[in-house]
Amino acid sequence: MPSRTLHTQRLVLEAASPAHVDGLWAAQEVSLPELIRYMPWAPTASRRTTETYVETMVRRWNDATDWAFTVFHEDTVAGSISLMGYEALSDLAEIGYWMRSDLTGRGLMTEAAAAIVDFGFQEIRCHRLELLAAVDNIGSIRVAEKLGFSREGRLREANRAPATGGRHDMYAFGLLVHEWPRA
Ligand SMILES: CC(C)(COP(=O)(O)OP(=O)(O)OC[C@H]1O[C@@H](n2cnc3c(N)ncnc32)[C@H](O)[C@@H]1OP(=O)(O)O)[C@@H](O)C(=O)NCCC(=O)NCCS
Repeated sequence: MPSRTLHTQRLVLEAASPAHVDGLWAAQEVSLPELIRYMPWAPTASRRTTETYVETMVRRWNDATDWAFTVFHEDTVAGSISLMGYEALSDLAEIGYWMRSDLTGRGLMTEAAAAIVDFGFQEIRCHRLELLAAVDNIGSIRVAEKLGFSREGRLREANRAPATGGRHDMYAFGLLVHEWPRA
């Protein structure tokens, strides 16, 4: 069974659970101006959609397709990170995340994502991890680069840009198991 709790130097990552809904919504609510730039779900986010999200992720954890973790920093919800879209036939999955706005720029998401990379390679036995970031999302691009992901291509208009009503081109990043020192 995959670990339900992961520890890093400054963070605890816990498998998303209904007990996290209020904390997740509080973290989203204060971060909406930033989240709306890149997360298609942000314009309609509410406590109710957060509850539905958690229910979905609990089901998907049990189906072994997605593993969503709530990120805690000093006992408070700081964000969310997932290994998602696991393809058993090709041993690959994608990493997605967001961090509460008043905690960004401290290396925390890089720390959380390193734990998820360990989880993906060591526990789920992925061969390849993928990460998509809008071409102007410098923070997310830096997270991928700091972890050693390679930028492999540009996906045209691959995601909604909710703040403008347009679409983002996305950089596709990939990391292979033999490129990760702790695999
Ligand atoms: C992207 C996001 C998760 C990054 O979280 P974070 O905790 O700030 O990440 P880290 O601190 O580990 O790393 C961010 C890096 O980007 C850099 N960065 C962020 N914005 C930057 C900017 N405008 N110009 C230059 N560098 C920037 C930071 O300095 C840091 O790099 P460094 O450690 O080399 O200095 C967070 O900003 C966020 O949640 N954004 C909104 C949602 C989102 O975009 N999710 C990802 C979708 S792919």
